[in-house]
Amino acid sequence: MRKKIVAGNWKMNLDYNEGVSLFSEIVNMVKDERQGDQLAIICAPFIHLNSLSKLGGSDVAIGAQNIHDKENGAYTGEISAKMVKSIGAEYVILGHSERRQYQAESDELLAAKTKIALSNNLKPIFCIGETLDERNNGSYYEILKKQLVNGIFSLTEEDFRKVVIAYEPVWAIGTGLTASPEQAQDIHAFIRSEIEANYGFNVADDTTILYGGSCNPGNAASLFAQKDIDGGLIGGASLKSRDFTDIIKALNS
Ligand code: 13P
Repeated sequence: MRKKIVAGNWKMNLDYNEGVSLFSEIVNMVKDERQGDQLAIICAPFIHLNSLSKLGGSDVAIGAQNIHDKENGAYTGEISAKMVKSIGAEYVILGHSERRQYQAESDELLAAKTKIALSNNLKPIFCIGETLDERNNGSYYEILKKQLVNGIFSLTEEDFRKVVIAYEPVWAIGTGLTASPEQAQDIHAFIRSEIEANYGFNVADDTTILYGGSCNPGNAASLFAQKDIDGGLIGGASLKSRDFTDIIKALNS
């Protein structure tokens, strides 16, 4: 059975005290809402990871938002997978469209980052998504397939099983424009069929595929009700403890 996950991506928000305070609220609220093997994750800026991993306990897992693609060395200002793992983080977001766009991260670089994450026992939350132009000109299936093939489809089955996929249409991120449940389901089913073609039915059936892009307490339940949507990757709404917890509640409805 695949895991249901709600992951928050705080992006570049919250100073140290603000982060600790929001996270403490989230842990207290999530304790009461999380059911069975549902998982809540907060992916925070590096400065927060150490403190949050001590506060999170078994209720909220911790993830980073990036790692370097090399094991260690003369890369001033960078953070390695091993460093992130050593403070108790379990996940790392890779392939987010903001890094593809602003840091020019290529599929090839992301494939290297994915491998180094896995070899350090960090589980990638691997994001793919099309721009508005790609949606409008109809090339989006091809674009999404290319991101999957070049980014993660060369992994062994054992490694691939540790990856969470997030479909985040770029046109829906931070815009208030959510993909409709039908649009999102259509893409999630496509992603699952591509996984099946590569790794077989069982792996595809076990892979958690999250939706991200203006997901909020008002639309989460209808998105999560779709059969191939296994939870969400939440930006803005993860900065409010009530909204984030209500999105977790929507997993149960
Ligand atoms: P928003 O929820 O703010 O649209 O951001 C989505 C996202 O990019 C999560 O990674």
